[in-house]
Amino acid sequence: MHLLIPAAGMGRRMGSDRNKLLLTLWDKPLLAWTLEAAEAATCIDWIGIMGQPVDFPDFEEILATVNLSKPVELIQGGGTRQESVYNGLQALPTDAERVLIHDGARCLATPELFERCAIGLQNWGGLIAAVPVKDTIKVVGDHQLILDTPDRKQLWAAQTPQGFDVKLLKECHQQGRQQGWEVTDDAALFEKCGLSVHIVMGEETNLKVTTPVDLSVAEFILKARHNNL
Ligand code: CTP
Ligand code: MG
Repeated sequence: MHLLIPAAGMGRRMGSDRNKLLLTLWDKPLLAWTLEAAEAATCIDWIGIMGQPVDFPDFEEILATVNLSKPVELIQGGGTRQESVYNGLQALPTDAERVLIHDGARCLATPELFERCAIGLQNWGGLIAAVPVKDTIKVVGDHQLILDTPDRKQLWAAQTPQGFDVKLLKECHQQGRQQGWEVTDDAALFEKCGLSVHIVMGEETNLKVTTPVDLSVAEFILKARHNNL
């Protein structure tokens, strides 16, 4: 199974002056944690990392310390996550039939979650990890006026990994570019093309490190895991 890791963001909401994936989380760069999980997931046998070329020397340094047994390719990312994934899809080896896409910023995903998604891809052409939402979600319009309260039983929070049939996902990205669709995940492109996307049970701890608070929470979770070994 091929894995693409979008890692070409700026980390603006982190308020740092560099890619948040290069920030230290406990004792190593955030991206190293993501790569270690991918290394431990036996279903994955090829890894592509989309990044900004300015970060490539740092990525190389991380790769040297993580010492992956799997082939790795650095791929030039784009101006949006969507463009970065598009570039990653073009760089996949031609024999890639199914692909997992996993945000570099979700550094707490476990190898077991990757395996669950890979197994799901044996039956489905599109899937995402997701968890039931815990909060009640409001739809809000102008003047902070609540317009609707959707039934929580139907609401799931999308995570990554997200897995797809490569040929279909490439077609969806092509159509998205032509139509100017802007989406925040690949499942949305698949859905807009009328294709089915299924849910695989995600993990409550699989947070996307976005703000400084997330960084502290992630460190807490990693240390708790370490102490339970
Ligand atoms: N990403 C990417 N290419 C981009 C933008 C984002 O590959 N042009 C990646 C990020 O590196 C991250 C994942 O997509 O691993 C999810 O994006 P997000 O959490 O939004 O990260 P950033 O875009 O870096 O953060 P921010 O939106 O706060 O600037
Ligand atoms: Mg972003």
